[in-house]
Amino acid sequence: MCLSKNNRATHLALLHLIDYYIFVVYLNETSMNIALIGYGKMGKEIEKIAHSRGHKTPVIIDINNPEDFTKENLRKCDVAIEFTIPSSAITNYLNCFEAGIPVVSGTTGWLEHKDEIFGKCKEYAGTFFYASNFSVGVNLFFELNKKLAELMAPHKDYNAEMKEVHHTQKLDAPSGTAITLAEGLIEKLPKKEKWVNHAGQSANELGIISERTGNVPGIHSIKYDSEVDFIEVTHSAKNRVGFAFGAVLAAEFCLGEKGILTMKDLLKL
Ligand SMILES: NC(=O)c1ccc[n+]([C@@H]2O[C@H](COP(=O)([O-])OP(=O)(O)OC[C@H]3O[C@@H](n4cnc5c(N)ncnc54)[C@H](O)[C@@H]3O)[C@@H](O)[C@H]2O)c1
Repeated sequence: MCLSKNNRATHLALLHLIDYYIFVVYLNETSMNIALIGYGKMGKEIEKIAHSRGHKTPVIIDINNPEDFTKENLRKCDVAIEFTIPSSAITNYLNCFEAGIPVVSGTTGWLEHKDEIFGKCKEYAGTFFYASNFSVGVNLFFELNKKLAELMAPHKDYNAEMKEVHHTQKLDAPSGTAITLAEGLIEKLPKKEKWVNHAGQSANELGIISERTGNVPGIHSIKYDSEVDFIEVTHSAKNRVGFAFGAVLAAEFCLGEKGILTMKDLLKL
């Protein structure tokens, strides 16, 4: 595309306006003390974003310092952000409820305990913000997925399938994000009744193919295939910054809120 001088100036002014909008919408006004539970790839990325937004991380818990995971330490913080492993997440959430601090849950693969955690959050009058994916782009993609499924519902010639690709250290499959996408699709596409973690064997099964390779932060594709063409939409994370940024925004959102919160509340979707 070739822009004239005037057009270029308008184009630049527009870009500045967009930058300003993003800055104002995501502007941080309060400085918080954040307890980081889990100091792996995500914990370290979250620490950087939190500091860049003026927050402190006085409590950092990982597998090697369980002695620091005390109610007294948690109570020094305004909020906890938890990115660990599925088998430790539940106990970590309960500890935060007992300490009376809001918790942002990033760990995936624990959802079979969802009812128990929601019940405990209510019992302790706590705050629990959870998301299978904290990326703003992915949460917009969740909405696009539902809209596309709604459009495709009357067109019986197309078969839907999903694929997700992640790094080799990922413990759960399919990814939490793929499950959220599958649930959204099944809600809007009556032909599909359940998802399976392999190619679909019958018309009512939504196949999710999981691939583990290299250091991929996360790719999710939704495909509609017919005899004559196919439609594919993909979200591809370039790095972990988007997840970390969303988790810090979620922590900021928790202040003064009670109950179960999701990205729909934060992004007003
Ligand atoms: N919701 C999202 O947007 C999102 C994005 C990326 C990753 N994730 C999920 O977050 C989790 C962590 O991802 P990661 O890439 O940081 O993994 P990672 O393996 O790099 O880090 C996990 C960390 O948790 C620590 N840990 C294990 N047990 C612990 C315990 N009992 N107490 C404290 N720390 C403990 C490990 O020592 C490790 O440092 C995974 O479940 C992953 O699927 C979610």
